[in-house]
Amino acid sequence: MTYGDLYESAKRDPDAFWMEAAKGIDWDVQPSKALFDENAPLYEWYADGKLNACWNAVDRHVEAGHGDRTAIIYDSPVTHTKREITFVELRNRVATLAGALRAKGVGKGDRVIIYMPMIPEALEAMLACARLGAVHSVVFGGFASHELAVRIDDCTPKCIIAASCGIEPGRVVHYKPLLDGALDQATHQPDFCVIYQREQEVAHLEEGRDVNWHGFQYGVEPADCVPVEGNHPLYILYTSGTTGQPKGVVRHTGGHSVALNWTMKNLYDMNPGEVFWAASDVGWVVGHSYICYGPLTYGCTTVVFEGKPVGTPDAGTFWRVIRDHKVKCLFTAPTAFRAIKRDDPTGSLVGDYDLSSLKSLFLAGERADPDTIEWAQDKLGVPVIDHWWQTETGWAIAGNPLGVEALPVKIGSPSVAMPGYDVQILDEGGHPMKTGELGAIAVKLPLPPGTLPTLWQAEDRFHASYLTHFPGYYETGDAGMIDEDGYLYIMARTDDVINVAGHRLSTGAMEEVLAAHADVAECAVIGVADALKGQLPMGFLCLNKGAETAPEQVVKDCVKMVRDQIGPVAAFKLAVVVDRLPKTRSGKILRGTMVKIADGQEFKMPATIDDPAILDEIAEAVKPLGYGA
Ligand code: COA
Ligand code: AMP
Repeated sequence: MTYGDLYESAKRDPDAFWMEAAKGIDWDVQPSKALFDENAPLYEWYADGKLNACWNAVDRHVEAGHGDRTAIIYDSPVTHTKREITFVELRNRVATLAGALRAKGVGKGDRVIIYMPMIPEALEAMLACARLGAVHSVVFGGFASHELAVRIDDCTPKCIIAASCGIEPGRVVHYKPLLDGALDQATHQPDFCVIYQREQEVAHLEEGRDVNWHGFQYGVEPADCVPVEGNHPLYILYTSGTTGQPKGVVRHTGGHSVALNWTMKNLYDMNPGEVFWAASDVGWVVGHSYICYGPLTYGCTTVVFEGKPVGTPDAGTFWRVIRDHKVKCLFTAPTAFRAIKRDDPTGSLVGDYDLSSLKSLFLAGERADPDTIEWAQDKLGVPVIDHWWQTETGWAIAGNPLGVEALPVKIGSPSVAMPGYDVQILDEGGHPMKTGELGAIAVKLPLPPGTLPTLWQAEDRFHASYLTHFPGYYETGDAGMIDEDGYLYIMARTDDVINVAGHRLSTGAMEEVLAAHADVAECAVIGVADALKGQLPMGFLCLNKGAETAPEQVVKDCVKMVRDQIGPVAAFKLAVVVDRLPKTRSGKILRGTMVKIADGQEFKMPATIDDPAILDEIAEAVKPLGYGA
């Protein structure tokens, strides 16, 4: 079957296509059909089937006689540790953890927040929740207390599972004090917290609230998998929107297991027993889909890597991991390769390792620039596949389906729409645009299985954010075009979301933090180009008349405030004080024009600008930061 045949068959008869794909996983009760469209434009998949995501990711492989296969390889250059966990060991560990959670009252539908670094226990915590039908919500370790508190209040967890610490190169991240700080700020309080004590730091446990990961599992009855409905939420994953309130993307169990299982062969060309490595973090969607659920559900080995592409200890780390663990497919963000290329431009370290196991490199999370793709192609000699997706979709909207047919790679394009996605380019009025014309990228409803059905307890926001602008479509928030061969090009976001080192961040959330500074009257945050991270946030601060603090001090305060409130991952280090912000006559800040000025690009004077002279002031202000023409 060619890609074209496959895509057309999914379009012609989605129900038949996705019922066939559903045969790839185990069901306790078979669904009567794939698509449930009774509440359109809200759609659900496999709603009346019953299954368990942990069973599909773990137990079924043991039952099939593959218990001795390696499920997880933990490779941690920052702690000098390597460890392998087989499927049977994983099953036993997860069943015991689930039993302990159940003994403390966690059951189907309860929410559990997981705040852990890249250690196997993070996956075990996710799977233990899935085993019970509890809904996990993993919070990325680079977020600070305030962000954690916002998530605690939004999803009101019964329990929080955290580690005592994380390890970043050169510093220990004190998770426990961050958790305690979040609980001080949050209105909602969990019944209990489970703390995994790492040997690098043993945290103080709060009597009556905190239990020790090992201690609370002692002597408990292991839990079996609880079958849940196909539309039962497996997890909530918060992602940046345009405001400080993140969006809680909901993932239903049935569609998620089916879609990820389908992608492992068709998109990534993996076979059970082979090693898949997504060098990301469990705190992001890539980690949910392709460190945890996707590879395990398909019976592959997954790599949990606690390290960085450079500096742990050098730019050869990725090649060492590929060699040591016989990785077949590597998935990471282009930033990681830019970092490696910067430290080892000639790729001299590549030759030190036997990379014969590696068959493909997949890139996503941000735009893959041609230089990086060409460098990777040249040094690795395998197909380098850009693919495009979002937290909301959970798997690729567009990609190059290596397991079906390796389509020609066009550098600059994440290739073609995956089956189930009817991708279209629309103008402002929602009319389809011509081939090659730039517009908003939208996907005709329904979206395929595995994609978001709604936002956690925010159905109105789901409608407003995704379904209202273009009725009948899902609005992706990205702008781009499609060429004559059906290849897609992703050019920019249409909202205030920026992408820093493959991490999705909200400039609106940063503005909310800056605006809270006593001396800041008004502010704007934009994303400026950065050779390593793709984009970096840059803040413009207008101070109150008569502000007593020196401008340099306000800048310092603001940098610290963003780090303390959003977290180090925001990488907010560039800020300047300006007298005024450029605005339209109706008062809208001209952020797009500011980005062009900072990036030193040509721009058209906005017809609606209130006072063009301010643009010169902006150009002057960004110069000391190394930006502008
Ligand atoms: N816990 C705590 N802090 C974290 C963290 C975590 N899990 N992850 C990152 N941080 C911190 C970093 O230590 C850094 O802090 P600093 O300001 O004190 O140096 C800050 O957040 C910014 O991190 P990052 O943007 O990752 O920059 P970096 O300079 O540490 O590393 C790269 C740059 C390119 C090496 C790194 O971004 C990388 O490996 N990217 C791969 C992309 C990726 O994994 N994307 C996920 C989506 S696929
Ligand atoms: P996230 O939800 O964190 O995965 O971020 C999703 C956003 O990252 C998308 O909406 C795009 O803006 C961007 N993105 C992800 N993958 C790609 C890609 N392959 N090319 C260009 N942009 C991408």
